[in-house]
Amino acid sequence: MESFRITSAGPRVQPLAGTVHVGGAKNSALKLMAAALLAPGTSVIRNVPDILDVEVMGQLLERLGCTVEITHPDTDPTQGSTSGDVRIEVPEELSWEAPYELVRRLRASIAVLGPLVARCRRASVALPGGDAIGSRGLDMHMAGLRELGAAVRVEHGQVVAEVPDSLAGATMWLDFPSVGATENLLMAAVLAKGTSVLDNAAREPEIVDLCRMLVEMGARIDGIGSSTLTIEGVDRLAPVEHATVSDRIVAGTWAFAAAIAGGEISVDGGDPRHLDLVLDKLGDAGAEIATTPDGFMVRAERRLRSFDVVTLPFPGFPTDLQPFAMALASVSEGTAMITENVFESRFMFAQELARLGADLHTDGHHAVVRGVPMLSGAPVVAHDIRAGAALVLAGLAGQGVTTVVESQHIDRGYPSFAEVLAGLGADVVRQAG
Ligand code: UD1
Repeated sequence: MESFRITSAGPRVQPLAGTVHVGGAKNSALKLMAAALLAPGTSVIRNVPDILDVEVMGQLLERLGCTVEITHPDTDPTQGSTSGDVRIEVPEELSWEAPYELVRRLRASIAVLGPLVARCRRASVALPGGDAIGSRGLDMHMAGLRELGAAVRVEHGQVVAEVPDSLAGATMWLDFPSVGATENLLMAAVLAKGTSVLDNAAREPEIVDLCRMLVEMGARIDGIGSSTLTIEGVDRLAPVEHATVSDRIVAGTWAFAAAIAGGEISVDGGDPRHLDLVLDKLGDAGAEIATTPDGFMVRAERRLRSFDVVTLPFPGFPTDLQPFAMALASVSEGTAMITENVFESRFMFAQELARLGADLHTDGHHAVVRGVPMLSGAPVVAHDIRAGAALVLAGLAGQGVTTVVESQHIDRGYPSFAEVLAGLGADVVRQAG
């Protein structure tokens, strides 16, 4: 086991300074890898982050019969840019069973369900584990596949879907614009017979990226970027080369890093259009934000003012940045109300933040955070990727030593997080235990 050790004299005492490079989005790359299953032949996904989840998804695809090669150029880890290529050779005949020992290591592996049903007319995918941030049901995935003509059941911990003949286009309505359900149903519908309509679909930039790759493969999709996707099924798709969209959550994390610790960070490769609301809020709170030729820049020289946050599907405030907003509120001037609408258990993070001296109170999916001038270092636990990274940044706004244990969660979403922070001037090191 590893942990991160952060030593700080408090916010803005040792301001962060420098440039970070943001690579491809984890949440896109993993789905693009699953989408490769839809076409026999060799697909290449470019701009893929150098993180464990990509390796696990590669192992899963190999288990399904593919040959997967992941290459990462030798780059300076302190720059954060460790994107590489994944080459996936997909056979005509795929195996259709995704076993628990791989799926439990990566919730995103549920994204193979749609492609397997479409290609093999049957799939058995273990119910995933993943981050400890909520129950994360699959009811919408299963209801949509049923609409497309599959018989779906859960047995022995596996989701089993079978199609008697072939998938048939249908109209599907999601109760909530679920990212995972939109992706699975889209990937099933592209090879269904006839027209499908997916209403109340998620429209995150990662969904747009998946749609683009599917269209490059020969899929026919209308309404990309909107909440109604119309899909005209085709008989066969072709393999492609596709570059992953940049990671807006990693880019947003660096914006919060400057805001929480103080300093100036240039975020190269970050797309400010995917972070409109977040950067607006930081600007209103007193940070200086500017777009640059390669991305954007955030400068925070003074203590910022508190702001309220309500998490919502895109283009609302992203739930994945909520822990950072809470960490920032804990050292801002004034009081913030934070409302979490997407993942019910995300406030486990609040208890860890309180250990660092944050003054907060949670009630259901609301949290009230009263800013204090400075936190105080303590040992804390990373329960998931974003909470872990937010605790590291909170440590930079604390006085003394903060140890974030179970830091392997952070490595699942951020290539070289400790090294990049050290490159920006923070005293952050990895240590055993
Ligand atoms: C993806 C992202 C995650 C992000 C989330 C919301 C990946 C690998 N993960 O997760 O980082 O926080 O989108 O932007 O891309 N739900 C159901 N039934 C379903 C499907 C979802 O109840 O059939 C619920 C979930 O429990 C959750 C909410 O809907 O409370 C949102 O889930 P969803 O949008 O599907 O998120 P993920 O795809 O799991």
